[in-house]
Amino acid sequence: MSGRIPQHFIDELLNRVDIVDVIDARVPLKKAGRQYTACCPFHDEKTPSFTVSPNKQFYHCFGCGAHGTAVGFLMEYEHLAFPEAIESLAQNLGLEVPREEDARGSSARRPDTTPLYELLARSDGFYRQQLRNHPQAGRAIDYLKKRGLSGEIAAEFGIGYAPPGWDNLQNALADNDGVREQLISVGMLIRKDDERTYDRFRDRIMFPIRDRRGRTIAFGGRILDSGEPKYLNSPETPLFHKGRELYGLFEARKALRQIPRLLVVEGYMDVVSLAQFGVHYAVATLGTATTREHLSQLFRVTPEVVFCFDGDRAGREAAWRALENALSVMREGYELRFMFLPEGEDPDSHIRAVGRETFENEMGTALPF
Ligand code: UTP
Ligand code: MN
Repeated sequence: MSGRIPQHFIDELLNRVDIVDVIDARVPLKKAGRQYTACCPFHDEKTPSFTVSPNKQFYHCFGCGAHGTAVGFLMEYEHLAFPEAIESLAQNLGLEVPREEDARGSSARRPDTTPLYELLARSDGFYRQQLRNHPQAGRAIDYLKKRGLSGEIAAEFGIGYAPPGWDNLQNALADNDGVREQLISVGMLIRKDDERTYDRFRDRIMFPIRDRRGRTIAFGGRILDSGEPKYLNSPETPLFHKGRELYGLFEARKALRQIPRLLVVEGYMDVVSLAQFGVHYAVATLGTATTREHLSQLFRVTPEVVFCFDGDRAGREAAWRALENALSVMREGYELRFMFLPEGEDPDSHIRAVGRETFENEMGTALPF
């Protein structure tokens, strides 16, 4: 291995790595509020003063002052050089580390994604504020109430409202052409043939899709009444890759100290509604089949995964596909089960019909792998 590791690869890797996983695999962490703690591995102590922040992706020891990122941790803890630490993180994610032939010629950096994350955070804030203040917000709130969602659970999932109209978001955020281009690249604006741009999401309930650190990277928008498409999702963007993300995983990790298992369902509403009933460990794939990358992510969080499918033919077919994908990921100690719902029900309607206890019991007797 020679040659420089390209900066864009390092950036991408750090975006995908979760410091909590990296440290927890070596020094078991306990959840304490927003942080994780342990006895510090870098000095001798009896009470934990070592903390790890999933939001900041930093560790810090209040006892000895040690602090740093996931890479820094590996370098200190395993006495690795920087490129070795990068190799180790990449290997965990199943990535090959590219090398630059010649450091001078090819140090082309990919554009910095920080402003894109910021724009999505601002979009998120905008939609939530519209749910409180827009003159038409009453319709959105009535809809959420009709679906049986509490204000608390809506806040937990950051649910918002994209008001009717072609340029609400654009007017609120795009004060220059540069920002407009960035909003197009993250899927929030669409450009027409005549070069004019308009808001992708209009008159929809907005579900922010967050990555494992809680950063909003995309949205799903549900129409209030009937109409097509029922759900509109962000396209694939530099920040959002459907085959990699799981809706609700961030929220589950935030809500639960210990994740007993993860339940994989199909829809946004299913995840939110299950959480409202106290089942805080549901995640949804985003309009795609469950990929192997999804599965290995799930098993990084918990040893037990239950797939929930409709009882109909399409559900059984989806179960087969999931099973096929799972074959290569399964390992000793992993448990995978398949739960089939009565025909015509989805997890949202089913838990409303039978309640949490029965629902969880049914999960317990689901078909093993
Ligand atoms: P469903 O049509 O089963 O809807 O889509 P749902 O989740 O039960 O939604 P509600 O209860 O009617 O609100 C399941 C999932 O498939 C994707 C979404 O992720 C949705 O949550 N989907 C569905 C789309 O992406 N677009 C669509 O038009 C429909
Ligand atoms: Mn539904």
